Amino acid sequence: MGGADAAGTHGDRSTPDGPAADGPAPDEAADEPTAERATGLSRRAVMGWAGAGLALGAAGGGSVAAAVSGGSDSGTTVSDGAIAFYGDHQAGIATPVQDRLHFAAFDVLTDDRKELAALLKEWTSAAAAMTAGREVGQGAVDGLAEAPPDDTGEALGLPPSRLTLTIGFGPSLFEQVDADGTRTDRFGLRARRPAALVDLPHFPGDSLDPARSGGDLCVQACADDPQVAVHAIRNLARIGMGKVSVRWSQLGFGKTSSTTPDAQTPRNLMGFKDGTHNIAGTDTATLKDHVWAAPGDGQDWMTGGSYLVARRIRMHIETWDREGLKAQEDVFGRTKGEGAPYGKQRERDTPDLARLPKDSHVRLAHPDTNGGLRILRRGFSFTDGTDGLGRLDAGLFFLAYQRDTRKAFVPLQRRLAANDALNEYIQHVGSAHFACPPGVRKPGEWWGQALLG
Ligand code: HEM
Repeated sequence: MGGADAAGTHGDRSTPDGPAADGPAPDEAADEPTAERATGLSRRAVMGWAGAGLALGAAGGGSVAAAVSGGSDSGTTVSDGAIAFYGDHQAGIATPVQDRLHFAAFDVLTDDRKELAALLKEWTSAAAAMTAGREVGQGAVDGLAEAPPDDTGEALGLPPSRLTLTIGFGPSLFEQVDADGTRTDRFGLRARRPAALVDLPHFPGDSLDPARSGGDLCVQACADDPQVAVHAIRNLARIGMGKVSVRWSQLGFGKTSSTTPDAQTPRNLMGFKDGTHNIAGTDTATLKDHVWAAPGDGQDWMTGGSYLVARRIRMHIETWDREGLKAQEDVFGRTKGEGAPYGKQRERDTPDLARLPKDSHVRLAHPDTNGGLRILRRGFSFTDGTDGLGRLDAGLFFLAYQRDTRKAFVPLQRRLAANDALNEYIQHVGSAHFACPPGVRKPGEWWGQALLG
């Protein structure tokens, strides 16, 4: 068993043109035991799970994933191509970075706290299903003929593709500030806003577009197949219709970071290896110190969660492409080919910071010149057509997770914004900040339960 035949495809029923080549014939599908249909698990998926050595009882589909993850620390791979949804921390932070991103920020339209909680419950079960490679609800083709399908269907037949869905709560969820300065505690959450969830300050050089900034909620969807990531965001948006609206969204490709040091480091659109010195997903001690909010940090509901800063950083790649190779390398203080720090041979050699240009990005961003501060970078490249002036609208969608933004991104970005040689070639054009709660530990629990429940 392997490839799309492995556990947990997004449904594997017949297509409108007939059954998938090796899928069940329509009449066989109709014979499926009712319990199996009710779980939303396809027969092939069940065979796959069983093949992975799992004992399947009468449990619902969600329990299956729980049984597999066993409350693991975070994001264990539970079957070929699926990352565990349930765990102490949300998947999509310390778990291995996938190839593609669809990130969406939402405005909450309802002022009703109960309605918001109900939506988050519904989103959680949809997320548990989709990350396990299952369809949402009754699926794309198994529901009532008269009703719109529960699942939009474009991931039918696709494997889970290591999909992770990570939710975050923006400052405006805790207190809405209108243009005239009026402050509204819409959901009674003002007192529960973590101190670390600051309104980010203005940094030198910022040219932020409000239409690409902020948001009451965010969902980061990462997967190896863009169709799976887009399908996930689309289905959450569909479920939330009338209660939330998409404020802005960003597609990303070519991960520009790595949480798996053994893998080849990806390159960003400037052609440099990006993610060499990042926090590894396996480095539990550093994750504990620098990424996960801990008891006593502030709001208890955030324990095990993390703060996410998203920045849409435009690269002036036309200017960059006219620079000489040495000038480009001076910007980072690393060689372009190997990625080695100046004065060293190999990418992973420890930098001798004194040998890097004073205004180089790596010298300025390195923990040793910042009192030991660390962030977990998880960004992606983007190109979104042209800017209307004959240039590509391209850059880095920077995503960084940390235990306390006030002690990590804010001081680091202050320093970079004031001194970094890279600033000549980049501009921050979008910005958002979110509190990402801890993981959902078992079926029945939901995203944000400790905050809103
Ligand atoms: C378009 C913008 C950016 C580009 C192209 C970029 C690129 C790079 C590259 C090529 C490296 C060296 C390889 C590595 O260790 O990953 C690096 C390192 C790093 N960058 Fe950036 N970066 C950008 C923005 C930022 C921002 C906004 C921050 C934080 C506020 C940041 C923080 C860091 C950190 C902490 C390191 C590791 C330094 C070390 O420990 O050696 N970067 N970046």
